Order: sequence, then C-alpha cells, then structure tokens
Amino acid sequence: MKKVGIIGWRGMVGSVLMERMENEKDFDKVQSYLFSTSLKGNKAPIYNNCHELVLDSNSIDELTEMDIIITCQGGDFTNEMHPALRTSGWTGIWIDAASSLRMNEKSIIVLDPLNKNKITEGLNSGVKDYIGGNCTVSLMLMGLGGLFKEGIVEWMTSMTYQAASGAGAKNMIELLDQMNYFGTEFDTYRLNNPGTTALEYEKLMTEKMSDPKFPRDNFGYPLGLSLLPWIDTKVENGQSREEWKAQVEANKILGSEEIIPIDGTCVRVASLRCHSQAFTIKLKKSVDIATIESLITESNEWVDFVPNDKDSTLDRLTPASVSGTLKIPVGRVRKMTLGDNYLNAFSIGDQLLWGAAEPLRRTLLMAL
Ligand code: HSE
Repeated sequence: MKKVGIIGWRGMVGSVLMERMENEKDFDKVQSYLFSTSLKGNKAPIYNNCHELVLDSNSIDELTEMDIIITCQGGDFTNEMHPALRTSGWTGIWIDAASSLRMNEKSIIVLDPLNKNKITEGLNSGVKDYIGGNCTVSLMLMGLGGLFKEGIVEWMTSMTYQAASGAGAKNMIELLDQMNYFGTEFDTYRLNNPGTTALEYEKLMTEKMSDPKFPRDNFGYPLGLSLLPWIDTKVENGQSREEWKAQVEANKILGSEEIIPIDGTCVRVASLRCHSQAFTIKLKKSVDIATIESLITESNEWVDFVPNDKDSTLDRLTPASVSGTLKIPVGRVRKMTLGDNYLNAFSIGDQLLWGAAEPLRRTLLMAL
C-alpha cells in the first residue's frame, strides 16, 4: 500500500476531507500518516491503517518517506515545504488544496468529472503536482461543464454569491456572531418598545453596524444584513483576484485551445458554506433548451437539473437545500431577452465538498 501523508487534517477543509475519506473507506486503501507541527509525537486519532503517532509536518526526513502528500494546510506551508521537498530530491505525488501552485506549468488543476483524462495522462507521464481548483471555478464547471465540453460557449459572465466558509472558519463564526448581535439587539428592543415599525428596526440595526462592539475582526465589515462585493486582493486590471481566477483556472482545467472569456463580480453573502453563481452565457449558436438540459444533465452524476419554475427553484436551488451534500443543482435555465444565443443559468455547490475536499480525495484514489 502507498504511504500517504496528510497535512492540515484538523482545519476546516482538512476535516471535511477526513470525514469523506472515512465515509468512503479510503483509509482501507492506503497506509496513512498524519502530520502536524503542534501535535507531533502525540497519538493520532484512530483511522484504519493510520500510523499511531502524529509526525512532524516540518520534517523533510519524515515527509520524504511518503509516496503521496495531500495537504490542506494552506499557501504558506506549500510555499515553504514544496520547494524544500523537491530540492531534497523527493519525487512523490503532491496533492494540494492551496492556490500557490495552480497556475504552474508543471501542475494539473484537478476536477476529475471534467478532466479525468488529463489527470490520468499526467500520472502516466510523470506529472507530480495535482492542485485543487478555486472553489467557485470548480463548482461552476461541475454545473456547466457539459456546455463547455460541447464547445458552444463563446463567453460567460459569472456573478457570485459566496459563502463565509470561503474566507475561513473564523469568518463563519464571525458571521454567526454578527447575526447573534443583531438578534440580541432586536429582541431587547422589541421587548422594551412594542409597536416599533420595520423601518425603525432597520434604522436601529444599520446604526448598530457602526457600534465598536459589533464583531468584525475577520471580515472588517458587516456581512450579516449586508454583503461584501470584493473577495481577495486587487489585480492590476481592476478585477479582484477571485474574479481573475475564473477565466485562467477554468480554461486550464478545460485545456482550452482558444481561451473562453469568463468574467464577473464576486460577492460575499451571508451563506455559511454554499457558493451560488448567476451566469450569462453567450452561446456560439442557437441551441434549444432541451439540448441544453441534456448537455448539463449528462455531464456528471451530481448535477441536478432544476426546472425553471418557482416551486422547484425555491425547493432545490438554494444553499439551504445543498449544504453538506455533493449535489450541484443547476436551474433558472432560459433564453434571455437579449437574444436567442444568450442563456441564463444559476447554480449552487457546497464550497467545502466539490469546492475543496472532494476533488483532492478523488485524485488521491487515482494516484494509488
Ligand atoms: N477563494 C474562495 C472564497 C474560497 O473566498 O470564497 C477558496 O477557493
């Protein structure tokens, strides 16, 4: 059995990865070793075939013993340890959730329902670095991959509604703290001031957002009862880095010969772990909705094509109905009034599953 080192297993993406690996009995297929800096030498949690002690994630000697390393530790760890391991002569397979190595010429962005052939070819031809895509990009391609594969997309805009989880575990808790803050203020005010109107409550809540006690250490701004239309740093052309990733990563995953333009505005909303996206898709030619539906549906087994009616949409096309599942509902599919070649669509996915952990564990299985 291959020796697999797992790093960042206690973090949010790492915990989801461990849970999925356990549920799918992946641990039966590998000899696993858990690495950590703070817990090195401690007893490891019990997983089938897992080494009993936690090893040191800063130890080149211990890491180079591994055939495969899978890391959810983040970009700083990757930037430090990946070059150190490669310089030491380690030729194992590196599977990574962080973005640092994604656009490297020598790495493959992994999303096997879309690029399984590319991953297999890479494994057979000696590619060593396999990197999970940006969550928004992976979730978009899981939903709309069938249209891209068919070669009918001329360009696309994606307007995103991204969950707090994408910013990290502390941010998720801060969103709940913000909601709790509003809830407590609302309850107290209502008790003491019966008959307060909705507009008076709105004024009160908006004022409370500037209260020095309002929890904002992580986001810096209110997300609860508001939204934040900027994610990550600025790139030179005025896009945010999250917006920049859409075109470059999607085209790399698709292996496009000609770049398909993709752009939009990325927005953080008060969802906990599901990213949603609204798309305007310019088709190269007129394609009827029934064909669009079958292209989307047949693309992979996780897509749930939601009929464009109100009840189905509100029942199946919401973060509330997707959270914690591998489902990728795609709905609101209709021709836009802009013209017959303009398609509207909306899709949702769990940011921690298909958006992060799932492509990594599936790549691990392919590498065994
Ligand atoms: N960058 C994403 C976000 C998450 O902030 O939502 C990671 O892909």
